[in-house]
Amino acid sequence: MNSIEIITKKKNKLQLTKEEIAFMVNGYVSGDIPDYQMSAFLMSIVCNGMTIAETIDLTDIMIQSGETIDLSEIKGKIVDKHSTGGIGDKTTIVLAPLVASVGVNVAKMSGRGLGVTGGTIDKLESIHGFQVETTKEEFVKQVNQIGVAIMSQTGNVAPADKKIYALRDVSGTTESIPLVASSIMSKKIASGADAIVLDVKVGSGALMKTIEDAHALAHCMIEIGAHYKKPVKCVLTNMDEPLGYAIGNGIEVIESIETLKGNGPKDLEELVLTLGSLMVSIALDCSKEKASEMLQESLKNGKGYDKLKELIAYQKGDINQIEQDPYISIKSPESGFVTKIDANQIGEVVKKLGAGRMKKEDSIDHGVGIRLSVKVGDFVLENEELLRVYFDGQDVSVQEILDCFTFSQDVIEKQPLILEIIE
Ligand code: URA
Repeated sequence: MNSIEIITKKKNKLQLTKEEIAFMVNGYVSGDIPDYQMSAFLMSIVCNGMTIAETIDLTDIMIQSGETIDLSEIKGKIVDKHSTGGIGDKTTIVLAPLVASVGVNVAKMSGRGLGVTGGTIDKLESIHGFQVETTKEEFVKQVNQIGVAIMSQTGNVAPADKKIYALRDVSGTTESIPLVASSIMSKKIASGADAIVLDVKVGSGALMKTIEDAHALAHCMIEIGAHYKKPVKCVLTNMDEPLGYAIGNGIEVIESIETLKGNGPKDLEELVLTLGSLMVSIALDCSKEKASEMLQESLKNGKGYDKLKELIAYQKGDINQIEQDPYISIKSPESGFVTKIDANQIGEVVKKLGAGRMKKEDSIDHGVGIRLSVKVGDFVLENEELLRVYFDGQDVSVQEILDCFTFSQDVIEKQPLILEIIE
C-alpha cells in the first residue's frame, strides 16, 4: 500500500477500504505522510466525497487514534452540543452555563478556529488567566463539583482529527460532508457523551451553503450516531448574517456575558433556548416546552450568569479582564433597510484583522473584531452608526467592510433563524 495509490484511487472516485483510510490517517498522525500528501488526499475527498461506509470507517479510525473519555463517573445523562461553525457563533459560552444552571451537567470539549474566526477555546482565552487544558480526572472532578467544564479537546481525544482539522483550515478543505461529519462525530463519540445535539449552520457564513447540503450533513451525522448507538438531534440554523452583533474573540465573550444577564441579541438567545431545551429535555426526560421554561427562568433570575462566573473562576479566569482593542465607528453611507450583511465577507475581514488563522501555526489576536450596530431588517439613516471596528494598528479597509452590506428602500421579509429540527 502506498499513499500515492490511495490518493489516486479517491481522485478516480473509487471507494476506499478501511485499511487504506487507516494507512493515510495513521501515517499522517505518525509523521510518515507529509502535509502535502495529506492535503491532496483531503482535497480528493472534498471533490469526490465518501460513501456512508467510508465515512463511518474514517470516524472509527479517528476515534481509535486516541483515548476515549469515560464520563460514567459524572451523575446523570451527559448531552453534548456541537456546532458546524459560523460567524459570531459564541453559543457554547452562553449555553453551557445556562444548561448547567438548571441542574444538567455539561462536560464540554471544544476546539480552536476552523475557517474564519477563532473557536470557543480561542474566544475563552481572551479572558485573562482562563485555563483550557486539563487532565481527564480534573475535567470529571470539575463537572461533579460545579456542573460544568469547557476544556480544549485534549491531545489524546481523536488526535488524528486535531491534526487533520488544523491542516484543513489552511488547505481549503473545510467544506466537505464526510470530513465535517467524521471530524465532529469522532470527537463527540470519543468524548463520552450519551447523546448529542448538533447545530448545523446553513448559509453564506457556514460550511454548508445550501439547505440540501445541511440536510445531507445532518443525516450523515445521525447515521454515524446510530452506528455507535448514540441518539443525535440536529437543528438547522440560518447563517446568512452573523449570529448576534459581535464577531471576534474578546468581544464575543462580552456579548455572551450580556446574553446571560438577559441583555443579549434576540437571535443568539433564541438559538441558545432551542439547543438548550433539546439538551435538557433529553437529560431530564421532560418535554422541550418544560425545558425551555426552566432555561428562560434561569436567564431571568441570573442563575445562568452566576454559573458562568463560577465556571470562569474555577478555570482561573478574571471576568473583569477580557481583551478588547479600541474601536472606530463606521457610519452608514445611505438611508434604508439593511437587506444583507454578508456573514462570510465579514468573517474574512475579521480574520484579516487577526481574529482567525491564516496558517495553522498562527496565533490569534483576541482584542480585534467587528461589532455590528444593526441587523438584517433594521432601518438605518445615512451617517448613523453601522458598526464598530476594534483594532490596534492593523490595516482596515472601510470600503471592504461597507461592501458586506446591502440596503433597500423596501421592507424585507426576514428569514427565520431556526430552519428545521431533525429529531
Ligand atoms: N467542526 C468540527 O469539529 N469539525 C469540522 O470539520 C467542522 C466544524
